[in-house]
Amino acid sequence: MKLSNLFCNLKDMLNIVIFGAPGSGKGTQSENLIKRYNLAHISTGDVLRAEMKNGTELGKLAEGYIAKGQLVPDDVVIGMLANVLDTKKDAAGVIFDGFPRTIPQSDALDEMLKERGQEVSIVVSLEVEEPELIERLIKRGQQSGRSDDNMETIKSRLDVYKNQTSPLKEHYEKTGKLASIKGVGTVDEIFERIAEAVDKIK
Ligand code: AP5
Ligand code: MG
Repeated sequence: MKLSNLFCNLKDMLNIVIFGAPGSGKGTQSENLIKRYNLAHISTGDVLRAEMKNGTELGKLAEGYIAKGQLVPDDVVIGMLANVLDTKKDAAGVIFDGFPRTIPQSDALDEMLKERGQEVSIVVSLEVEEPELIERLIKRGQQSGRSDDNMETIKSRLDVYKNQTSPLKEHYEKTGKLASIKGVGTVDEIFERIAEAVDKIK
C-alpha cells in the first residue's frame, strides 16, 4: 500500500468523543454507536472499575477518588488511555467515553491521535438537566452496586463536572467539532439525533 493511501485511511477513522455529565447516557449511547459504526469503545470509568475489581495498584489508587466522586489524576488516566488505545488498532475508529475530562487530557488525546495520523472527528455532548441526572443515577444505584451511585457522591460528581469538565465544551466549540445533543427522550430518539450529527461529518 502506498504511504499516501495509508495516511488517507487513518484520517478516515471515526473518532468520537462522547461527552456529558454523570448519568447523561454516555455508556448507553456508546453501545448503539458501536453497533452502527463498527467502533471500539474506551470508557475510562469502566477501565478503572475493572482495575478496582482485579485489585491492581491502579485500581487501589483509583478507588479513593471514585468513591469521593473526584477525578483520578490526569497523568494516571492519560497513561492508562495510551495503553488501552494501542489495543484498539484494528477498529474503524474509537468512541472515547468519559475521556477527556480536563484540558490537559484533551491536549493529550490530540497528541496521541496525531502520533497515529488521526484526530478527533466529533465531540457529542449530551445535554441533560441536573434533576433528571440525579433521578437516573439514584435509580441505577439501587441495583448497580457502583460505589459512586449514592446521593453524596453524585452531588460531588456533578460539581466536578460543572467546574472541571464542562469548560471543555467551550474548548471544543472553538475547534468546530462540538455537536450539542438534547439527551432527554427515549434512548432510540437520542441515538437518532446523535447519528444525524455523526453522518453529517462522515
Ligand atoms: P464514569 O464511569 O465515566 O462515570 P460518569 O461520568 O459519572 O457517568 P456514568 O457512567 O455514571 O453515566 P453515563 O453518562 O455513562 O450514563 P449511562 O449511560 O450509564 O466515571 C466514574 C469515575 O471514574 C469518575 O467520577 C472519576 O472518578 C473516574 N474517571 C473516569 N474517567 C476519568 C477521567 N477521564 N479522568 C479522571 N477520572 C476519571 O446512564 C445512566 C443511567 O441512566 C443508566 O441507568 C441508564 O440506563 C439510564 N439512562 C440512559 N439513557 C436514558 C434515557 N434516555 N432515559 C432514561 N434513563 C436513561
Ligand atoms: Mg458511563
